[in-house]
Amino acid sequence: MSGGGTGVMDHEFQGPRHIAIIMDGNGRWAARKGLPPSSGHKAGVERIRDLIEACKKRHVEVLTLFAFSSENWQRPPKEVELLMSLFLSYLRKEARKMQEQGVRLRVIGRRDRFSSRLQRAIVEAEEITKDGVSGTLVIAADYGGQWDIAQAAKALAEEVAAGKRAPGSINEEALAQHMQLADLPSVDLMIRSSGEQRISNFMLWQCAYSEFYFTDTLWPDFDEAELDLALEAYRLRDRRFGGRNQTGLEVRA
Ligand code: IPE
Ligand code: IPE
Ligand code: MG
Repeated sequence: MSGGGTGVMDHEFQGPRHIAIIMDGNGRWAARKGLPPSSGHKAGVERIRDLIEACKKRHVEVLTLFAFSSENWQRPPKEVELLMSLFLSYLRKEARKMQEQGVRLRVIGRRDRFSSRLQRAIVEAEEITKDGVSGTLVIAADYGGQWDIAQAAKALAEEVAAGKRAPGSINEEALAQHMQLADLPSVDLMIRSSGEQRISNFMLWQCAYSEFYFTDTLWPDFDEAELDLALEAYRLRDRRFGGRNQTGLEVRA
């Protein structure tokens, strides 16, 4: 693994260490086939296993998938129920496979609105896979980027109230340390399927310098070839992080 070089002399391509995906378009995929949204969600889940393997092959360290947003509770109750049961069966079925693949699973988001069965399955799946060293799969469920920032602010406020921290010490770094996935690289490449070009309250903090890639492909059709298209687009980006990358200027001159 190479270090994080964005320097002028660094001509070697650095693939993304962390890819985050807004898996959108299940409903439209199903509707085009005259099927209910549930069929789209089932087909969408089927994409995940291959994607994990594809990311592993490409040395991606972290893959974060947006499975259920804070706002998705507003869907019809039957659809919410189906999504919850798909999540539960996914965890039960796939945790062992992930363990065999050496993939560590993490789930981010609020957990208190899930059934106790689902909460237990999350804990168990994280426990079974905790020693994986070939990569991390993060599932964002009942997750919202605004919730994430609010919970980090709350943790800091609690430290202040307990006399462990001075208000003046609260800065970007302090907040970053309390965000979800603080111990992992920030998101390099953010992908959204289905043609929508919005963030829908996904990881707001962790995306400060992500490259965005949008594809019209609907999630249940997103395969390894689609991933490679996103990676190729990423390869052509000139990541500057607010600075100036001389190599980029030369290429564009
Ligand atoms: C994304 O697919 C999956 C979830 C939000 C859980 P959608 O269900 O949003 O698909 P569209 O946007 O209706 O096509
Ligand atoms: C975002 O998709 C959430 C997930 C993919 C889990 P939505 O389909 O819910 O987003 P909006 O409502 O179209 O912005
Ligand atoms: Mg959608």
